[in-house]
Amino acid sequence: MPDTQQDGYMTADGRRIGPVVMEMRNITLRFGGVVAIKDISFDIREGEIRAIIGPNGAGKSSMLNVISGFYKPQEGEVIYKGARRPPMKPYQVARDGIARTFQNIALFEGMTVLDNVMTGRLNHMRSGLLGQAFWWAGAQKEEVANREVAEKVIDFLEIQNIRKTPVSRLPYGLKKRVELARALAAEPKILLLDEPMAGMNVEEKEDMCRFILDVNDEFGTTIALIEHDMGVVMDLSDRVVVMDYGKKIGDGTPDEVRANQEVIDAYLGVAHD
Ligand SMILES: Nc1ncnc2c1ncn2[C@@H]1O[C@H](COP(=O)(O)OP(=O)(O)O)[C@@H](O)[C@H]1O
Ligand SMILES: [Mg+2]
Repeated sequence: MPDTQQDGYMTADGRRIGPVVMEMRNITLRFGGVVAIKDISFDIREGEIRAIIGPNGAGKSSMLNVISGFYKPQEGEVIYKGARRPPMKPYQVARDGIARTFQNIALFEGMTVLDNVMTGRLNHMRSGLLGQAFWWAGAQKEEVANREVAEKVIDFLEIQNIRKTPVSRLPYGLKKRVELARALAAEPKILLLDEPMAGMNVEEKEDMCRFILDVNDEFGTTIALIEHDMGVVMDLSDRVVVMDYGKKIGDGTPDEVRANQEVIDAYLGVAHD
């Protein structure tokens, strides 16, 4: 792997990995007396699928929240697109090209699939209520364009047949896919997935794996994901960060972390669901 951040490289399976797009530098995050993240540094390259693994309570979701800008670490800095990222509101993060899904599904259960996916477009809508009242032609044009993106994502994730179905009626695996659709509708540069396959059966997992790879391949989306299924992690990811008790205990290719004794002792050697 090249060590200059400007260079990219080709993976064995012919995907292009670009330069570093985000860098975490000495991040420490505390909740009162609990230290969720202890002095962790790592980077994410453009086009990469970067996994974060580790036991429950290791600090993985907290780290994803730091990457997304939702949590502000007490120490350290996040370098995004070559500059130190200032504290941001969630909508600013979304405008800056970062979208996410949650460990616990966060959809509007009473709304249809299409309407849920449309909420992923909110950051792309310039005209608010006033705009719609006074300049409805422009707002209408925007609405049509946004709907087009939403429909494209729905086609891409093969959920056309349920686009008018209220989310509450869907099985768990499909809800997870709708959540992915909403995140994709924002057309993110970086997509953050918190346990996208947790609770899924084998078939649902295979589908989700395929869609994650397709998104990465088709749109060049950089992906950071938390996942417990080691088979999935090893198959999907280019590089893996391993966390344990808030500390980083491993970082490298799947083969490298698999051979790391500290990682084996803390995580890989024990059974996980
Ligand atoms: N919002 C919060 N308030 C207080 N403590 C939290 C909060 N979020 C996470 N923690 C604590 O931080 C630690 C790491 O949690 P988390 O990031 O959720 O781990 P993981 O996702 O690896 O299971 C845990 O001890 C957890 O209880
Ligand atoms: Mg978590």
